[in-house]
Amino acid sequence: EYIETVKKLNEDKNVKYSILTMGCQLNENDSEKLSGMIEEMGYTRTENIEEADLIVFNTCCVRENAEDKLFGKLGEVKKIKEKRGTIIAIGGCMMQEEHIVEKLQKSYPFFDIVFGTHTLHKFPQDLYNIILNKKRIEDIINIDGEIVEGLPIKRDDKIKASVTIMYGCNNFCSYCIVPYVRGRERSRKAEDILKEVQELADKGYKEITLLGQNVNSYMRMEKVENKNEKITSFAELLYEVNKIEGIERIRFVSPHPKDFTDDVIEAIKKCDKVCKLIHLPLQSGNTKVLKEMNRKYTKEQYLNLVEKMKKEIPNVTFSTDIIVGFPGETDEEFEDTLDVVEKVNFEQVYMFIYSRRVGTPADKMENQVPEEQKHIRFNKLKMLVEHQIANKNKQYIDTKQKVLVEGKSKNNDNMLTGRTDSNKVVIFEGEDNLIGKVIDLKIVSEHMWYLKGEII
Ligand code: SAH
Ligand code: SF4
Ligand code: F3S
Repeated sequence: EYIETVKKLNEDKNVKYSILTMGCQLNENDSEKLSGMIEEMGYTRTENIEEADLIVFNTCCVRENAEDKLFGKLGEVKKIKEKRGTIIAIGGCMMQEEHIVEKLQKSYPFFDIVFGTHTLHKFPQDLYNIILNKKRIEDIINIDGEIVEGLPIKRDDKIKASVTIMYGCNNFCSYCIVPYVRGRERSRKAEDILKEVQELADKGYKEITLLGQNVNSYMRMEKVENKNEKITSFAELLYEVNKIEGIERIRFVSPHPKDFTDDVIEAIKKCDKVCKLIHLPLQSGNTKVLKEMNRKYTKEQYLNLVEKMKKEIPNVTFSTDIIVGFPGETDEEFEDTLDVVEKVNFEQVYMFIYSRRVGTPADKMENQVPEEQKHIRFNKLKMLVEHQIANKNKQYIDTKQKVLVEGKSKNNDNMLTGRTDSNKVVIFEGEDNLIGKVIDLKIVSEHMWYLKGEII
């Protein structure tokens, strides 16, 4: 309703919008929905914020540097607003934090709309009110947003797409802000998810990433309430998505090690389209630190799970997230993290320096690790990881890999780029008509962040 009204207001005005996405894949997926709504309201996208009539920030607060990004950009945007009267809207996870909204009111009072994670679908209404009343809007609620289906969505890619399967998180890892800004776990109905994937397949999409903060607890909360649902677990959902014709690959992020039940392992093994690269967030390799982090598994349990999967699932590989410098972590405890990295031999490691988040239990812990110490550990881990990746890359040489061709290489127009099942980038020479196809390549050389291949 509001979409139509704003569209009428914008008629013949050639209005433009920019959107700046600062967070994880869920945040990106939200931006795609925002863009979908905004384009339906008559705006066209521009990457140049100087010429935008509407600038939307979709913020992230998982680490301090994510927050810094917003404040850095806001200074720049103030001048644009003064010049053109641009509408400034700030949304996303950061807006669910009271102290941030207060800071905005005090130091950056030129914004027009702030909206949180639970009010995303109301964006057209907020925009309508701003255009008509010019009165600043704060549309943030602290109750879990209902799941709104059928929002328009403007996807960034034509071959790969993300599909959110659940919202929120119930785990409360002691360092993490996400449960506070995203609310409790809520799963989408399987029929809605499958319908979305089917539509994507019909449009020619080849790869689907199922998204959630804890995908393997999909439907856990709903199961109690709704006994009529046919699909009541993540494993069952995987089997159903696997049946959808046209989709070639299925990925998912993130599962939690504590919820990695045998039925999920079996589903990964049996579903031919499910990629065998499993993202399995470790966070720390030390049992005491893991306990303090409230992760609910030990070093041994993590390693056993990896071993079990290596045994059960042919060609399985792993990627992970690791935090260094959690409060109280000693050098010796950090060695356990290095030890696990060594043993698992990850395909990819996303490394983070612990960042204090207001309102989380870890922020209140007294034994914070000095910055310098954190950096030393970070560099140590980084060296080990890079060494391992370099070794792994060598093992790819002369192997045959199935690669989903994603498009032209960014750096070289004569080359195509794609990814292996294990998500490695491969660059190779080929005709444009291969884009969107899964083809066999022989790997001929390796570089730190990509491989080179030849068509067989
Ligand atoms: N739900 C997902 C992802 C959460 S956020 C999961 O559990 O895997 C992505 C990553 O950011 C986390 O896995 C963690 O490694 C990192 N992270 C979260 N809070 C952090 C903090 N306060 N400081 C540093 N890294 C953090
Ligand atoms: Fe944060 Fe832990 Fe939830 Fe992941 S599982 S979002 S790290 S609280
Ligand atoms: Fe994602 Fe950042 Fe929010 S990681 S869930 S956008 S806090």
